[in-house]
Amino acid sequence: MPALIVYESMFGATHAVAEEIAAGLRDRTPATVASVNDLDPEHLPEADLIVLGAPTHGHGLSTPVSRGDAALIGLDSYSGLRLEHDDNAVGMAEWLERAVLPADAVVAVFDTRIRGPRLVVGSAGHHVVRLLRAGGREPVVASESFYVMDNHRLEPGERQRAREWGAALAADRPAPLAVADEGVPASADSIVVGHDGSAQADRALATALDLAAALGAPVVVVRAWSIDTAPPGSLFQGGYAVPLLEVDHRVRDLLIEETRSIRERQSGVALTYQGVLGQPAEVLMAVSRRARMLVVGSRGRGGFASLLLGSVSEQCVRHAACPVLVVRPSGSDTDHDGA
Ligand SMILES: Cc1cc2nc3c(=O)[nH]c(=O)nc-3n(C[C@H](O)[C@H](O)[C@H](O)COP(=O)(O)O)c2cc1C
Repeated sequence: MPALIVYESMFGATHAVAEEIAAGLRDRTPATVASVNDLDPEHLPEADLIVLGAPTHGHGLSTPVSRGDAALIGLDSYSGLRLEHDDNAVGMAEWLERAVLPADAVVAVFDTRIRGPRLVVGSAGHHVVRLLRAGGREPVVASESFYVMDNHRLEPGERQRAREWGAALAADRPAPLAVADEGVPASADSIVVGHDGSAQADRALATALDLAAALGAPVVVVRAWSIDTAPPGSLFQGGYAVPLLEVDHRVRDLLIEETRSIRERQSGVALTYQGVLGQPAEVLMAVSRRARMLVVGSRGRGGFASLLLGSVSEQCVRHAACPVLVVRPSGSDTDHDGA
């Protein structure tokens, strides 16, 4: 699966991340790295995987004005930065407007930005996903941010993380958890199971683990969260909003903790966990898009919303891309109507 990594970069950070991602990919697939300034968007080389990366400027993608501002910073000899090109160069937004992406190629997206909540610092990658969607281009299989410091250079450890992210993309494994609107899709042999903390979710997980053990399949356990269901005290710390990625991790850690005893009954099954911000049915369908099967309890912690939308299991049965197994409640389950 040849991969093409296309990047925009003013000071070299996004370029460096692109090179690391390519290095990670190259263990399994040939990978080419090209700048938006060198690559004709209308005549792209053959690729099954296209990775698009851009620096965050003004909360989103660069513009001629923001590139001008960047050039001024780069030309200041005290900055210690070296400009990759002048400010008249093309940005990712202009490049994408003209790009003819191969119809069958899978697309992944990354950006560089300052560490912090996406709603506060913005994300170029988020804008790329929106532009792709507006152009009818779905799905984006993974999106990730790599962090720069105030001096526009990558934080320590980010190059290594980029290399690992590239390796995960090539291996078609779930990529490292991303701050994304949708969960990271599970691999084609996986069984995905939703777990909202209810007794029925426990039964769904136990069923998924039994099936996985029989089939030799890995299991991805997913918990969707929202502002209302985030673990108490996880959204704000010292008066500041906690980065969404950190809340994802808190939700995931809680999920691991709460499912420990069920997991121990089937210790041979390979397990990964995801905490994902979003509406439960949408998150489960996004993560299970390419999976072997999605397993859900017949009724979870739905409450009023589930009365309006139909239960999560009902939405998944109707709309999921993979087969769905709905695990019925047993007589001993106490939360019949969704605790
Ligand atoms: C004009 C300008 C605006 C920026 N705006 C933001 C921003 O809104 N949010 C953010 O996280 N980083 C912002 N940054 C920092 C960039 O994300 C950082 O320069 C970039 O990631 C470095 O990548 P590069 O070396 O590939 O250009 C801005 C940088 C410049 C020059």
